[in-house]
Amino acid sequence: MSTELAYPPTGATADATGTTLVTGVRPYGEGEPVNVLAVDGVIAAIGADVDAPADAEVTVVEGDGAVLLPGLVDMHVHLREPGREDTETIATGSEAAARGGFTAVFTMANTLPTTDQPIIAEAVWAKGQTTGLCDVHPVGSISKGLAGETLTEFGMMARSDARVRMFSDDGVCVTDSLLMRRAVEYAAGLDVLLAQHAEDHRLTEGAVAHEGPTAARLGLRGWPRVAEESIVARDIMLARDYGARIHVCHASTAGTVELIRWAKEQGVAVTAEATPHHLWLTDAKLETFDGNYRVNPPLREDSDMMVLRDALLDGTIDCVATDHAPHGAEDKCVEFDHAKPGMLGLETSLAVVAEAFVRPGLADWRWVAKVMSERPAEITKLPGQGRPIAVGEPANLTLVDVSEDATWTVHGEELASKTENTPYEGESFSTRVAATLLRGRPTFTR
Ligand code: DOR
Repeated sequence: MSTELAYPPTGATADATGTTLVTGVRPYGEGEPVNVLAVDGVIAAIGADVDAPADAEVTVVEGDGAVLLPGLVDMHVHLREPGREDTETIATGSEAAARGGFTAVFTMANTLPTTDQPIIAEAVWAKGQTTGLCDVHPVGSISKGLAGETLTEFGMMARSDARVRMFSDDGVCVTDSLLMRRAVEYAAGLDVLLAQHAEDHRLTEGAVAHEGPTAARLGLRGWPRVAEESIVARDIMLARDYGARIHVCHASTAGTVELIRWAKEQGVAVTAEATPHHLWLTDAKLETFDGNYRVNPPLREDSDMMVLRDALLDGTIDCVATDHAPHGAEDKCVEFDHAKPGMLGLETSLAVVAEAFVRPGLADWRWVAKVMSERPAEITKLPGQGRPIAVGEPANLTLVDVSEDATWTVHGEELASKTENTPYEGESFSTRVAATLLRGRPTFTR
C-alpha cells in the first residue's frame, strides 16, 4: 500500500481560498522588488507590475523590500502536546513557528503519552490544522513508550490520516542495536525516515556538559563526543546494510561530521541536521551556570562549532533544525546540574542563521532557502513545502526584514512560546521575520 502523502494530508482543514497580494519583495534576496499574487493557496503571478484582480477581496501584505523565501520547514521541534501543555501547546508552538517564518514543523514523539499510535498522531495533526498557523506533522516514536524494547507500528502510523513519515525516539537514543536493525529493515520497506538521537546512554550517565576543559574547570560531569559518534557510526552501517534512510538529529561534534562525510561518499542514505545553538554557541557560555544553556547534546567547543558551520556550508550537514524544546522556569532556573536540557528555537533560528552565515558573507539567501526549507522538505519527502518561488507553486512564503529597522533584541517573555528558556536573552540580531504565509494566507505579520 502506498504511503504517498496527499497534500494537504487527509483531514486538513487549513483554508486555502482567497487572494493575497504581497508587495515589494525580493525573492531569495535577488534583483529588484516584485509583487507576488497568491490565489487559493497557489502563486498566480510574480512581477513588478502585478496587481490583484479588481473584483477580488484582497489581503495585502506589504513587503517593503523584504527578502522572500519559501516557507521554512523545521524537522525537529517539541510542542509538548499531549501531556505537557503547561510548557507548550500545538497552538502556542504553531504561533512561535509562524512568527519564526515556518510553514511546516515536525513535532517529536516524546509526549505524554508517547506518540506511538495512529490515534495520537492523528490528534496532533488535526489540532495543528484546526489552529491553522503551521502544518504540524507528528513524528512517530520508533519504540513503544520510548522504552527501547518494542517497535511501534510504523505502517499503521504512516497510513493514518496523519501520514507519519518520520520516526524517532528523540530525547533518548535507540540504544539496542538489534532493535535499531529491525527498525531500519521495517523503515526501508515503507520508505519512511528514521531520525536518531545519537547518544550512548552508558557514556553519558550523569553528564550535563561537553566533556572538555570548561566542564573540568567548572566541576560539571562531562558528555564525551564518542557518546554521539559511536551511535552515528553504528547507524550508518545499519543504513548501509539494510537500506533505510537515516537522519542524524542535532549533530554536534567534528567527528560526527567526518562520519557523515564518509558515509555520503560511500553512497549511504544518511542525512543530518545542525541546530542554531550548536552553530552559534559554545560551552564557554557555561561559565554563567545558567540552566538555559543546558541542552542535549551539550554545547561543544569552538572547534566543533566551526566544523559544523563548514559542513552546513558544503552540504555534509543537510539542514538546520531547531530542536525547539520548551521547559518552564521551575526546570531551568535551578542549579545547572538539575536544569532540564532544551532551548527555545523557533522564533530565533532564522536570525541566528542570518547572523552566522549571511551577514559575514559566507552564504546568501538562496542557501538559507536550501538549508531551512528545501532540504528539510526533501529529506522528509514533504510535498508542497520547500518549493521554488514560482507561478503554480504553493504560496508557502516567508518575508525577512533585512532593513536597518530590523534589528531586535531577544526577550524570552516576548516570545509566543509558553516558556522563556531562550539561550539568546538580551542578544540582538540584525534580521527578523516580517511575515509568513501558509497556502497564501498570512499566519503572521509584524
Ligand atoms: O535538549 C534536548 N531537549 N534534547 C533532546 O533531545 C530532547 C529535548 C527535550 O525534549 O526537551
